[in-house]
Amino acid sequence: MEEQIEHKGILWGTNKRVAQYHIDRFEEFIAQSPERIKQLCTNDDGRLKHIARAEHFDKNFIDIIYKTAHAARKMGKLPGNSFLSSLFPYKAAMNFFKQPSSRTLLSFYRAEGILGMDRININDITTSSQYKGESDSDSLRTTSSYFDVVVARHPSINFDLLGVYVAEMCSRDFRYINAGSGPGEHPTQGLLDVYTISESFGGNLDHKVIAFVGDCLRGRTIHSLAKIMSIYEGTEIYFVAPEELQIDPETERYVKEKGVVIHKETGSLKDIAPLTDIVYMTRIQNEHGGDGEYNPKFIFDQRILDSMREDAIEMHPLPKREEIAPELDISKDPRIMHWREMRNGMWTRVAILSYLFGVDEQIREVSDRMDAAIKK
Ligand code: NCD
Repeated sequence: MEEQIEHKGILWGTNKRVAQYHIDRFEEFIAQSPERIKQLCTNDDGRLKHIARAEHFDKNFIDIIYKTAHAARKMGKLPGNSFLSSLFPYKAAMNFFKQPSSRTLLSFYRAEGILGMDRININDITTSSQYKGESDSDSLRTTSSYFDVVVARHPSINFDLLGVYVAEMCSRDFRYINAGSGPGEHPTQGLLDVYTISESFGGNLDHKVIAFVGDCLRGRTIHSLAKIMSIYEGTEIYFVAPEELQIDPETERYVKEKGVVIHKETGSLKDIAPLTDIVYMTRIQNEHGGDGEYNPKFIFDQRILDSMREDAIEMHPLPKREEIAPELDISKDPRIMHWREMRNGMWTRVAILSYLFGVDEQIREVSDRMDAAIKK
């Protein structure tokens, strides 16, 4: 087997000339202005057609996702209600995961099922043509031929745009969802996190003080959520991490430009937690290097929880390791959100898929009508 040619963490096939052709084109593609890239991810009517980066979201979109997730969840609780599962009998989804995943993969798989979609997971590349030298872009293009939406996770930070690049190349219309691009972005996790925050604070996302703790450098969930929170008024962010895992320059520049007040803290979490509305914990992302050892001064334990305000919350995208003290696993404290975030993830993904295929309004309307009928 000839070796795959890798560039920017993406596989371009085994042939030098073919690989170089696409590498050059992709480089040109990603060098376009952020405005142009956003335009390529947006339909003529202003609605997003791909979910690639958190910087493409605005208040209106987040509000739609929030309200649709809420409506779908309410309907999902009605036994015997087949409205949601009747929505997409002819749509099919491919979950293309080249990096490990439990929550994101399972919640997308379930969300697609809830909406009645046909779906398949590709998460073992030894069974795919990549083993035979097929490039990442050809794999995406191939899979997109059979599916209406491709949900992709990949170790490369540039994979957020590979799906958009491929979509631009082919004439067939398909939707691309970035389910985690290396240490870069995880926009759908950002959406489920903001849904969780919104639910916890009665829909009010302004003037929130949030502490991101752990691996701010490579924590893609931090990058996406920080960008989303920068949309709202008066956001203040503490990045609580050792020097070498402090926030990456790109995210820092982005949120600062949006007017977010930021503090880079290398001290102890115990001094910051009482000042916050949200403490957002993360593990050390040692699959990208390093030993993964967690500094005890950033551990979230009962003492930290006790120091937080009554209406503040703790979050974590999971998987968690030693950064959350195990005693908290048996705590019923309603401020601990990490398990709830996971359920929210499934409904947020139902909302994202229904938005991409234009049935979100229908879901909200049917839910409102049901509410009105129940109240009568
Ligand atoms: C996160 C991820 O993959 O970035 N997990 C998730 O999707 N819920 C966080 C992590 O792996 O630490």
